[in-house]
Amino acid sequence: MGDKFETKGRVCVTGASGFVASWLIKRLLLSGYHVTGTVRDPGNDKKLGHLWRLEGAKERLRLVKADLMVEGSFDDAIRGCDGVFHSASPAEILTPAIEGTLNVLRSCKKNPSLKRVVLTSSSSTARARDDFDPKIPLDESSWSSVELCERLQIWYALSKTLAERAAWEFCNENKIDLVTVLPAFVVGPSLSPDLCTTASDVLGLLQGKTERFEWHGRMGYVHIDDVARCHILVYEHKKARGRYLCSSIVLDNNELLSMLSTRYPNFPIPKRFEALDRPYYEWNTSKITSLGFKFKSIEEMFDDCIASLTAQGHLSVQPSYN
Ligand SMILES: NC(=O)c1ccc[n+]([C@@H]2O[C@H](COP(=O)([O-])OP(=O)(O)OC[C@H]3O[C@@H](n4cnc5c(N)ncnc54)[C@H](OP(=O)(O)O)[C@@H]3O)[C@@H](O)[C@H]2O)c1
Repeated sequence: MGDKFETKGRVCVTGASGFVASWLIKRLLLSGYHVTGTVRDPGNDKKLGHLWRLEGAKERLRLVKADLMVEGSFDDAIRGCDGVFHSASPAEILTPAIEGTLNVLRSCKKNPSLKRVVLTSSSSTARARDDFDPKIPLDESSWSSVELCERLQIWYALSKTLAERAAWEFCNENKIDLVTVLPAFVVGPSLSPDLCTTASDVLGLLQGKTERFEWHGRMGYVHIDDVARCHILVYEHKKARGRYLCSSIVLDNNELLSMLSTRYPNFPIPKRFEALDRPYYEWNTSKITSLGFKFKSIEEMFDDCIASLTAQGHLSVQPSYN
């Protein structure tokens, strides 16, 4: 017996059509799992074609209908699965995010063969606070302040924080083995031709738009493939417990600009952002790296993202690399 579960059984991935979930399914199929993906519209070939084209999909992927807002909707998808990766998140935040998560967990509770649930949370559940020492990198023990999120109206962070807290409470009460992954801003190639939020932010920046990244300020970045691999590692690793930050590097937005304009000189990347009055922070990611995980570099994230935006016709200017 090593450190890993021995069989590659059936797992469920919620929100299968999404940016993160699609990559996770790609990686799960490549590692030999049988995957049940949940989607709201299984008949939508345009939205799901990229999943059916994945290696192993014809033999080992099943897509079923489920909606976070419909009680019991995930029962069928989750029944008989060894593991559940809950990645779906509603466009509407707060109550739907919390209720949707609990809805999935109630279906997990009904499944006697369940070994572990991996929840896609976010680094924003750990970062939105103003009471820490900037000289000490934040780790998984850090939780965003609900009061600060409400005061500054950071609704995404608030909704992810309350949803993750609710998940811990439910899983502790019901003895469900839960592990959470807290990705930073995810960059990389999209499997779907539709632009996800982060890819559209990156596209805007490469076209000279400033709003999104000005607001992002200092931020952690992680490659989409690392996010997928990290989910699988913490699912498989018997010793994995609790929360796992998933971030390769933290950069000020002006540091990002200087990397991008040096590397891709023919894009009209903005020259400089106004500095915002935000606390300095770093992430301590030793919890995941101590399981043997290695992160890809910021250059690889953007090279891969730009190649995918170009191939999918979203970028008209071709990159010239320095
Ligand atoms: N992208 C990032 O930078 C990032 C960073 C940190 C954390 N995360 C977290 O990662 C997870 C996935 O994010 P993503 O970027 O991959 O988002 P995404 O591409 O927008 O995918 C979200 C998926 O959720 C599904 N969904 C929405 N409402 C639903 C509902 N009512 N019932 C069932 N499914 C529903 C959608 O699937 P259908 O349309 O098929 O129903 C959609 O494909 C989220 O929990 C997000 O908070 C993302």
